[in-house]
Amino acid sequence: MIGLFDRLVGPLLRTLDPETAHALALAALKRAPLPQPRPDDEKLQVQAFGFTFPNPVGLAAGFDKHGEVPDQLLRLGFGFVEVGGVTPLPQPGNPRPRLFRLDADQAIINRLGLNSDGVEKVAARLAARGKAGGVVGINIGANKDSVDRTADYVACIKALSPHVSFLTVNVSSPNTPGLRNLQQAAALDELLARVIDARESAGVRRQVLLKIAPDLTLGDLDDVVGVARRHRIDGMIVGNTTIGRANLRETEKAKEAGGLSGRPLFALSTRILAETYVRAEGAFPLIGVGGIDSGAAAFAKIKAGASFVQLYSGLVFRGVGLVGAIKKDLLDFLRVGRLDALSDAVGRDVAAITAEPWPT
Ligand SMILES: Cc1cc2nc3c(=O)[nH]c(=O)nc-3n(C[C@H](O)[C@H](O)[C@H](O)COP(=O)(O)O)c2cc1C
Repeated sequence: MIGLFDRLVGPLLRTLDPETAHALALAALKRAPLPQPRPDDEKLQVQAFGFTFPNPVGLAAGFDKHGEVPDQLLRLGFGFVEVGGVTPLPQPGNPRPRLFRLDADQAIINRLGLNSDGVEKVAARLAARGKAGGVVGINIGANKDSVDRTADYVACIKALSPHVSFLTVNVSSPNTPGLRNLQQAAALDELLARVIDARESAGVRRQVLLKIAPDLTLGDLDDVVGVARRHRIDGMIVGNTTIGRANLRETEKAKEAGGLSGRPLFALSTRILAETYVRAEGAFPLIGVGGIDSGAAAFAKIKAGASFVQLYSGLVFRGVGLVGAIKKDLLDFLRVGRLDALSDAVGRDVAAITAEPWPT
């Protein structure tokens, strides 16, 4: 069924403008009679955050922004799905066009600007899942015009905690002016203090993850990881899209403002992941994101310190069959490396990666 989905829907989507294609992909997913996937090999299981994840391959935030199809996405074989980003109040995001496909680079530039149905609608959709199961988290952000952005995260935590497995504090979207400033030590310290407070008083205690930008300097990263550890954050997602534009072939589209994702993000995001792993010293697990479009790329993230991976852009270029292909390859890597579990490979290449010249 998944192969059929890719063969029928994939070629059509690639002829359309990216935002129309995305809407169509969501509509197709809503209607596709996807069966429950076959259970994953137990060797792919990851224990973390108080859950057993059937496999470490997750869907990154931004694909199902409004929480419309989390269960269909789980049926594609993902081990977990992160819906959102969501903001407290509905907001339209930036004017179109705001999503660009750089085919020659296997990359995407987006400046959606956290377009959101708002927390009320998204919470109602997630509540309607009832006891559907599976690990579904939510990515939370602040409204563009908010006067107290920290209060926005608190509002999201209160409204959404009962309906999700984890919440991701997104301070790294490049398309909401000033949002990334929340990664500065003093601002992050205040934000995380209130976020953790809100989590403790939300009634249902959920895991809270922090998602950072791959554009941080190593000095910034020292601060961010230090603050995250002080507040006992449960994990970090490394990372969001980049504002960098290195080595792109599609030079015209590269001029579009926004965050770049996909293959050209792989090297930088993997380096920042390894640098984060060094600084976290095992205090919490990491989720590696950025440019994963193969089993080899996913395994490289694991060896760079990730306990889990997430992807988005790879789906656009490789189709939904990518999820199964990555899982199969991960099992092959375990077999060839004579490893019992993926956790045995986590961080294995960190010393080598952090000794390399900075990726350009
Ligand atoms: C169209 C689009 C929308 C996104 N929206 C969000 C978002 O709302 N919140 C967030 O934290 N990340 C968002 N992201 C970033 C992804 O979650 C991911 O971190 C990034 O794309 C790198 O992974 P990839 O190279 O596999 O796409 C978005 C990415 C894309 C392409």
